[in-house]
Amino acid sequence: MAETRFLADYRPWPFRLIETRLDITLAPRGSCVRSELALERTGPGPLVLDGGAGLHTLSVCIDGAAVPPEALAIGGEALTIGDRALPEGRFTLSCTVEIDPEANTALEGLYLSGGIFCTQCEAEGFRHITWYPDRPDVMAPFRVTLRSDMPVLLSNGNPVASGPGWAEWHDPWPKPAYLFALVAGDLRAVSGRFATSSGREVALNVWVRPGDEDRAGFALESLVKAMRWDETAYGREYDLDVFNIVAVDDFNMGAMENKGLNIFNSRLVLASPETATDSDYERIEAVIAHEYFHNWTGNRITCRDWFQLCLKEGLTVFRDQQFTSDMRSAAVKRIEDVVTLRARQFREDAGPLAHPPRPDRYEEINNFYTATVYEKGAEVIGMLRRLVGDDGYRRALDLYFDRHDGQACTIEDWLKVFEDATGRDLTQFKRWYTDAGTPRLTMAEDWDQGAGRLTLRFRQDTAPTPGQPDKPPRVIPIAVGLLSPNGDEVVPTRVLEMTDAEQSFAFDGLGGRPVVSLLRGFSAPVTVDRRISRSERALLVAHDTDPFARWEAADSLAMDSLVAMAAGAGSDPALSYAYGGVLAERAMDPAFLALMLRLPAEDEIAAEMARRGAVPDPDAIHRAREALMTELATDHARVLDQIMAEMDCPLPYAPDAAQSGARSARLAALALLSRIDGGERAQAVWDRAGNMTERMGALTQLIRAGRAEGALAWMEQRFAGNRLVMDKFFTVQPMAAAPDRALPVARALAARPDFDIRNPNRFRALIGGFGANHAALHAADGSGYDFVADWLIRIDPVNPQIAARMCSLLETWPRYDEGRRAHARRALERIAALPGLSGNTAEMVTRILA
Ligand code: ARG
Ligand code: ZN
Repeated sequence: MAETRFLADYRPWPFRLIETRLDITLAPRGSCVRSELALERTGPGPLVLDGGAGLHTLSVCIDGAAVPPEALAIGGEALTIGDRALPEGRFTLSCTVEIDPEANTALEGLYLSGGIFCTQCEAEGFRHITWYPDRPDVMAPFRVTLRSDMPVLLSNGNPVASGPGWAEWHDPWPKPAYLFALVAGDLRAVSGRFATSSGREVALNVWVRPGDEDRAGFALESLVKAMRWDETAYGREYDLDVFNIVAVDDFNMGAMENKGLNIFNSRLVLASPETATDSDYERIEAVIAHEYFHNWTGNRITCRDWFQLCLKEGLTVFRDQQFTSDMRSAAVKRIEDVVTLRARQFREDAGPLAHPPRPDRYEEINNFYTATVYEKGAEVIGMLRRLVGDDGYRRALDLYFDRHDGQACTIEDWLKVFEDATGRDLTQFKRWYTDAGTPRLTMAEDWDQGAGRLTLRFRQDTAPTPGQPDKPPRVIPIAVGLLSPNGDEVVPTRVLEMTDAEQSFAFDGLGGRPVVSLLRGFSAPVTVDRRISRSERALLVAHDTDPFARWEAADSLAMDSLVAMAAGAGSDPALSYAYGGVLAERAMDPAFLALMLRLPAEDEIAAEMARRGAVPDPDAIHRAREALMTELATDHARVLDQIMAEMDCPLPYAPDAAQSGARSARLAALALLSRIDGGERAQAVWDRAGNMTERMGALTQLIRAGRAEGALAWMEQRFAGNRLVMDKFFTVQPMAAAPDRALPVARALAARPDFDIRNPNRFRALIGGFGANHAALHAADGSGYDFVADWLIRIDPVNPQIAARMCSLLETWPRYDEGRRAHARRALERIAALPGLSGNTAEMVTRILA
């Protein structure tokens, strides 16, 4: 059983690590790892190193002499050398261990992926490679020798020397073990060069398997853009002679920022128009940038302990979001980010897994690589920036890099640079880091016609979350603008700073009663309750100058309709009317139009109903959403067809913002029209599709219409050898199937020989694809929960991290009716009862059931 770790228990390590030397001889079944740590004692106590069960320890020496057995204790997860066996001052500890990469299906530490040796050490994987102070505040330069007959041998830092069967690497920048990496394999590089602003020449390589070279170019281009952007936007230059990226097929997460040697899930590197969609391209560009940006926010300045994870992740997500806004449309990016935040983080915050961006306890840190740490962590920085202004933000960041370069830091250090750079007191602001839960912001309006004064009265409440019953008020930046009833903006955006539980703000000198455009740009991660008429919303849909608020008005109009329809009401004609207005607008950015045409997903509707105190019925929600799409398609078929024709992109394909925006508008129109034409148009799009974006857009509709057999057969035949495309094949079928078809479809796919659960992408593709079918996952008979539980039980002994992450499919069970809840509880209890269940999954299931 894993024990709970507490933030309050932090103690510095009582030794100084001066240098780490590794000499690693790679072999699939028995890799030999020799380590030499140059150490110096800085406090009393024994030397305790972290290690995992898989280490076969061959020798432990101090200054060349074997540590006497009575001074040495090797327990399950610790190697301890008694106080008295340790010399005063400096000494060298050398260990030799043997490990088995081939047996490593957990993909943590050193493992094999398709014949390539690679590593994943964050958060605590290095302890599966050798005994080590595996904590982020112990940093050292590394010198690494790799021995293998593989043609390409890579590690962190700069190459020093190599010969047949060996290579030596030196990383001069002190780093914690979680940033260590090695790769050995038969790989090909797609290469480029980059000259930094101060003239350092950097060799860039994207390493892929032979045959994949023609799909690596976009990743390389994205890297160059990211490197340039970080120089311009943050004044951050790269600091080594080489930057290597390696794509591997088996990877638990998206990618990893190991110093100078980023390792990526191949789905975030490889792309061609035939195999990747526009959103794949956008994601690749963003993640390549994200991992590159970690070089400063994460590597040069790292975290003191894992409770501070959002220090590097929140900031790096914030930076990658800024980057994408600059590369593409800022308005569209903001809306996409809010959609994701609500779908994933608000959902987490509203359920049993709620935790603050900086948690103060955990059992398994890998369970805290969450939407809250990442995406909410980024939102919190966005608020900070809004509160101190662009200049203040820039000064604070300069100070952060200046003051903390080379250090392992805390959220306190981070807030202190903002306080010192701007003079602002951030005591109350800090609650955003320490308190869980999404505040609910309620707004009422008082209009005084005689005085020309509008008073906005706000209240904030945050529901209790696990372990945090009381929620003191937070500082909330509320961006507001005012529109006149004819749609002109009478008061441009103003940021109101709410600090109390209840607070009012007045606007004077108004000629007539305005319509309030609230929470512009989504200025704070809160939910909003306001009394607003449909006509006011419609006015905002038509005229708001803030693109987010405009989209939000349309989205909430649709949400209100869907919630009412799911509860048995008819649809609201105001919605279709407002859509008509949007569709009639010729000058709209197509990507923005696509977002305006999007209806809230079924899971979002269920979440909203729960927020309003209702018990969501998944079948009714599904029917309501289908009915509304059918109605919108029927009402606007002619103009939707026009959009499809106008947005038909010219060749050649480019994954840029303009083309992908047009394709997304076209496919959004297709999704609506497919509700009324039996899949006729989708078939036509499929037949003429020139790229994977159109194919997937069409295929989704063909599956929904029950006429996808030919398309699926073609896909399978054409792409049998392409794992990434076949992942789409596994995802889209259960996801787009009618709710009562999804389970048989998923079962049939799970029975295929190419459903290899040792490949995380494939597992996520199928089980996640099924889980994305809301009404199927939450089937009244519990069959969806059972299917998921069965597979979590199967994957847990193979890959506990993946099992634990996928548990979040079941996190929303408390929302639903008694019958569904009982089924969900039984499924979760079945997992909990599994003999030998991993600590990762045990923690998740316990929290979800609590
Ligand atoms: N630091 C990586 C990233 O940016 C995530 C790696 C997490 N890996 C893990 N096993 N928890 O985004
Ligand atoms: Zn990251």
